[in-house]
Amino acid sequence: MAGRIPQSFIDELLSRVDIVDVIDARVPLKKQGSNWAACCPFHDERTPSFTVSPTKQFYYCFGCGATGSAIGFLMEYEHLGFVEAVETLASSIGVEVPREGGRPDQESRADALLAVLAQADQFYQAQLRRHQPAKDYLKRRGLSGSTAAHFGLGWAPDEWQALLTHCGDSRQRDLLEAGLINRHEDSGRLYDRFRGRIMFPIRDRRGRTVAFGGRVLAEREPKYMNSPETPLFHKGRELYGLYEARRAHRTLERLLVVEGYMDVIMLAEHGIRYAVATLGTAATDAHVQRLFASSDELVFCFDGDTAGGQAAWRALANVLPHLRDGREARFLFLPQGSDPDSLVRAEGREAFADRVAHARPLADFFVERLSSDIDTTTIAGRSQIVATARPLFARLPNGIYRELLIDRLAREVGLASERLRADLERSAPAPEQSAGDAKPRPRPPGAIRMTSMRTLIALLLQRPDLAGRVPADHPVLTHSEDPGAGLLRRLLRQIAADASVHTGRLLEAWRDAEEFPYLQRLAAYEFAIDPQLDHDQALASELDGALERLAEQACRARRAHLLAAARERALTAAEKRELRSLLGGAAET
Ligand code: UTP
Ligand code: MN
Repeated sequence: MAGRIPQSFIDELLSRVDIVDVIDARVPLKKQGSNWAACCPFHDERTPSFTVSPTKQFYYCFGCGATGSAIGFLMEYEHLGFVEAVETLASSIGVEVPREGGRPDQESRADALLAVLAQADQFYQAQLRRHQPAKDYLKRRGLSGSTAAHFGLGWAPDEWQALLTHCGDSRQRDLLEAGLINRHEDSGRLYDRFRGRIMFPIRDRRGRTVAFGGRVLAEREPKYMNSPETPLFHKGRELYGLYEARRAHRTLERLLVVEGYMDVIMLAEHGIRYAVATLGTAATDAHVQRLFASSDELVFCFDGDTAGGQAAWRALANVLPHLRDGREARFLFLPQGSDPDSLVRAEGREAFADRVAHARPLADFFVERLSSDIDTTTIAGRSQIVATARPLFARLPNGIYRELLIDRLAREVGLASERLRADLERSAPAPEQSAGDAKPRPRPPGAIRMTSMRTLIALLLQRPDLAGRVPADHPVLTHSEDPGAGLLRRLLRQIAADASVHTGRLLEAWRDAEEFPYLQRLAAYEFAIDPQLDHDQALASELDGALERLAEQACRARRAHLLAAARERALTAAEKRELRSLLGGAAET
């Protein structure tokens, strides 16, 4: 596996390509003022609300909130991974993507792990061909040889060192790190992790085996065993069968999310080749993101019992933030005690596909579940529903989905939509509409409450050229404990290091950071500027205002801190001086 792509290359790439060209080649753009516009490729619309800013090198849709740099656009539009998107951009301007050579060790470690996993894969598959009881077991479960081969099923011999012996002592370290062998705590002896199990290789998006699941033949505990977390395998990200599903379809109209390895495989056996499984966990946020990157429609499949209902509700909460127009999520509840494997075998492909086609839309499940066991005719019942719904709505971006859910819920609880909307949004004030824009627009998603810190960060992201207005000794930089202060410092350093930096490039440096989605939203935040005013000047004074408020806040906090300290102990001379000046400063304002 190649090493990391250096950040400096990403910066250079984003300064050499023009996002307008990149997008225009795929979605024809029209000039609109200083920006470019089109109907949004990420949701259905008739009037263009998708805009591309050449100065910010950044796109944004007012309708659905889709946003990002040229790299982000390719990832979303062409369903590419980050590296693939970078490679596509690089080749469009005829340059090679360099790889960091600084860490050859890590690079070759990943290569070594992949190599030993591939070797194990081959070994297990060869063993299956020779082991009649395992073949009989699969046949008894209704699996054909060709489906077994398609999923690369194998057999781990029921011996302590079969794989270890096969790979040889020189691969010990790799086998250990790949989670294929264990070291006995007392004796220090090495032994195979998987023994006497049908092996299911788990493949990454490029089809490389990164881990395994293994099932016992007889009734033995644990029934399934998975590889441990390794540098290559994170259970909360990987989806079993996604590689195979993507390979089976040019475009995946829908993905069916099931629980088990055998569900995925038996569905494929019956011609339903779009099922994937989470690996013994509930669908995580990362899962949902990957799933929607491959298909616009997700159908989550659950057992029809109580536990299934609860699991579905957890999945729903993780789906909400990813819902935007054009995407759909549905829920399929199976008869109690059956799983997709048993059901598709019992009733066949047509009947099962029919269940999938009639799976319950998210909106139905959402409303029904919220109002079950609650008397919606009473005021108390209604306010209970609104209270339960509020945090869920807070996760939901604006757009058709939000409107639809509000309407549905309003009807269910017998409130006017407007009234319910107001109730739900009371705790999260929406940003102002952009002034001077006659046409009412859908609000940008995830109404964000703009504190002074967020205003400052948003302005710096959008207009890095304003960074010079932030004094290096501003109290928010020197001694603020605001959680945003660290982020602000890093952002300012980033801007200082690169005279020609723009929004798209600033954001790309944060792609792997936890704050990335938050920064994207701030970068897209629209400041309501009076069209009568000079735009640049208005933004600058907005920034100055935020700085002033932050300084006041920092001073107030420091003053409170010193006053509290004075009650506990004697202040030093310097602290006294500081406090006097802080109190003096307060008297002036
Ligand atoms: P199930 O117990 O429902 O298994 O677990 P299944 O898919 O019906 O298996 P068969 O039909 O008996 O072969 C569903 C999933 O939960 C995880 C596995 O990913 C499994 O596919 N699991 C289950 C484990 O990780 N460990 C276990 O011991 C059991
Ligand atoms: Mn089963």
